[in-house]
Amino acid sequence: KTKIILDVDTGSDDAVAIMTALLSPELEVLGICTVNGNRCIEMTTENTLRVVEYLGSDVPVFKGCAMPLVSSLQPGRRPHMPFIGQEDPEENVHSDYLDYLPPATIKPQKQNAITWLIDTLMASDGDITLVPVGPLTNLAVALRIEPAIADKIKEIVIMGGAYEYGNITATSEFNIWIDPEAAKIVMDCGAKITLIPLDATHRACISLAECDELDAMGTKAALATSEFARYRIKGYRVFQPMEQDDWGPIHDALAVAAIIDPTVLKDVRQLHVDVDFSGGSADGMTVCDVNFRDKKAVRNAAVALNADREKFVGIIKAAMARSER
Ligand code: BDR
Ligand code: CA
Repeated sequence: KTKIILDVDTGSDDAVAIMTALLSPELEVLGICTVNGNRCIEMTTENTLRVVEYLGSDVPVFKGCAMPLVSSLQPGRRPHMPFIGQEDPEENVHSDYLDYLPPATIKPQKQNAITWLIDTLMASDGDITLVPVGPLTNLAVALRIEPAIADKIKEIVIMGGAYEYGNITATSEFNIWIDPEAAKIVMDCGAKITLIPLDATHRACISLAECDELDAMGTKAALATSEFARYRIKGYRVFQPMEQDDWGPIHDALAVAAIIDPTVLKDVRQLHVDVDFSGGSADGMTVCDVNFRDKKAVRNAAVALNADREKFVGIIKAAMARSER
């Protein structure tokens, strides 16, 4: 079994990623850290707990950073983010993202995500894979407190970034855009990194027909996945039309699928990836040196530029079939 730690900002695609991980015998989920991102930290933690409780799992959940390192301090730099630090958790107990799941009655652990991450990695044999699928704030803070964790990490499999085009700005993907300084710290930490940008996740879409198949499967996880996927497909028609009108990406689940079966990723290239945080039009961009212009630059990440859609959906369906009814 591959030991993993998920780091999530649960929203609907994080929810599918968590369910896939918890339901896959190839993986042992040691814990789940939460971070500010899709929603404020209270809501991403609540949503994470909902998913864990829904599946009857006892995996520990650790609450992490409530704010990005720097980006939200600069006026005007994050104009699209009304919810960073401004969300009223009381008003949002019934998240529009995960309303399908009952409110959580279980609680996060008392220890915070950062110290747990450091303690767990330092006590390990270097056999833990980190799977951050939200902004990289928690891991960046952990690296700043204890840089020695970099040598203890087996691999970091990140959902984030974009080579061809962004989903928040022309150049920038959400997870990196929220906290580009954190992303830069992580990209340069020296650990083995696989980066799964939008270029890959947009090619690993799930279709409405496949949602029907999940419904027919009828397990708890299949029904929730179908619900979330339908919500996403509908949203993407407006937000960012995909190649086909009846399908949408489940970004974060691709990172989990890639640990279960690395061949789900296609066109994987070992590259130097820099992160821009200049505040200009490339702010939050993962700058991928695909033509090796900088000969001296360290090739710090394996970047997936494509994915095997059929294989991805197969992994999701196989996981969801294992849940109870
Ligand atoms: C990423 O941003 C978040 O909205 C999703 O959960 C995913 O991790 C996609 O850009
Ligand atoms: Ca996410």
